[in-house]
Amino acid sequence: MLYEFPKDFIWGCATASYQIEGAFNEDGKGPSIWDVFTHTPGNIIDGSNGDVACDHYHRYAEDVKLMETLNLKAYRFSISWPRIFPEGKGSVNKKGLDFYKRLVDALNSASIIPFATIYHWDLPQALEEKGGWADLDTSKYFADYSYVLFKELGDSIPFWITLNEPAVFTYLGYGIGVHAPGKKDSGLATKATYSALLAHGLAVEAYRSLGVKGQIGITLNLTPMHSASNKEEDILSARRMDLMWNRWFLDPIFKGSFPQEFIELLAKNGISFEVDSEHMKKISLKIDFLGVNYYTRNIVMYDPKVPLINARSIEPTTNKTEMGWEIYPEGLYELLTSIKRDYGNIPLYITENGSAFKDELIDEKVDDPEREDYLKRHFYQAYRAIKDGIDLKGYFVWSLMDNFEWAYGYTKRFGIVYVDYPTQKRIIKRSGYYYRKVIEYNGVEL
Ligand code: FCB
Repeated sequence: MLYEFPKDFIWGCATASYQIEGAFNEDGKGPSIWDVFTHTPGNIIDGSNGDVACDHYHRYAEDVKLMETLNLKAYRFSISWPRIFPEGKGSVNKKGLDFYKRLVDALNSASIIPFATIYHWDLPQALEEKGGWADLDTSKYFADYSYVLFKELGDSIPFWITLNEPAVFTYLGYGIGVHAPGKKDSGLATKATYSALLAHGLAVEAYRSLGVKGQIGITLNLTPMHSASNKEEDILSARRMDLMWNRWFLDPIFKGSFPQEFIELLAKNGISFEVDSEHMKKISLKIDFLGVNYYTRNIVMYDPKVPLINARSIEPTTNKTEMGWEIYPEGLYELLTSIKRDYGNIPLYITENGSAFKDELIDEKVDDPEREDYLKRHFYQAYRAIKDGIDLKGYFVWSLMDNFEWAYGYTKRFGIVYVDYPTQKRIIKRSGYYYRKVIEYNGVEL
């Protein structure tokens, strides 16, 4: 049976600048924290970097054609801050801006709706040297950078996403150190969450001040946190994980305050957290939609060895993707339902969902039934949520094509299009042809 989606449902694919563009030092682009991080031995599992990646900077026209072949209605990409401002601030690098103008023109000519993410982790290195996200000034520079984008591209890009996954780039970048800039300090990470949220708010303010026609929101990675058992300590651990990863970002944006319970936990661990009420007003400015990135749930148990939250996720042994993430489609329904319950009926987009599997190119074909199955089951859960009255308006598969998967380098393939890196040839995978049919039927068959 065909489970049909609403008539104007937006089906798309997502990517991010550092993961696909390459051209890391061309046309006046400045270095980003990811250039520096990947050029430092030991940080990336296969020693690789994004210097060339999918060479999308030079192949964008071919890639837009690929999107047309796939029938995509929308494309979510990100803009590289150091292409626009090589030093993070100061004067605009026109050549960098021109690249995005060309890309957006190509999308609009192909009737593919552009969704632009203003920040998907490639902070200008010059700003990192002044303290990066741990410094409040970065929020102001981000707002200035956003303002330029709105002025230059606001008329041709109808959907804007301020930040991609602030929890990931702050906690992994400043707390655990497995992402750029590789710092390991919970105090810094906490500061970074605050500046990032403020940056988001200031960008929303800048957008409204210009009165451009379009919508603005933010993308959060949200993960249902399930307790490993009924033991009180596991239940509490799951709650802390939820506070740290989900509510720490949702609450300030939609309720105008950070969760007190977590502020107290920080204080107990010697991390002070000051909130300025003027900042809170900006952080909680009304947005037009929330972008949700969903990949898996976490099953959480008590672990006193983990600082601050005394909690860790249990790694699944079966039913998992190449990332080691459990395949749990029901979690998407649960998540969308809980957002409505706790924060209201906000217009939602799934801005990322997808999976990595071991893909092999055999006779110019890639047969990836696991990814097809993963997508199908998640689409169905999205369908259920819509039927229940959740205002879900679109769905972006991560990713359009295989790309540089951060600390995992090129060892994980998430694309519905295979990239043969030595030749840069793009080959649509079985899952890509499947997705094309889903879009054509505007529904999923089970
Ligand atoms: C998300 C990131 C995206 C990609 C996927 C697999 O956390 O936003 O860039 O790496 O995970």
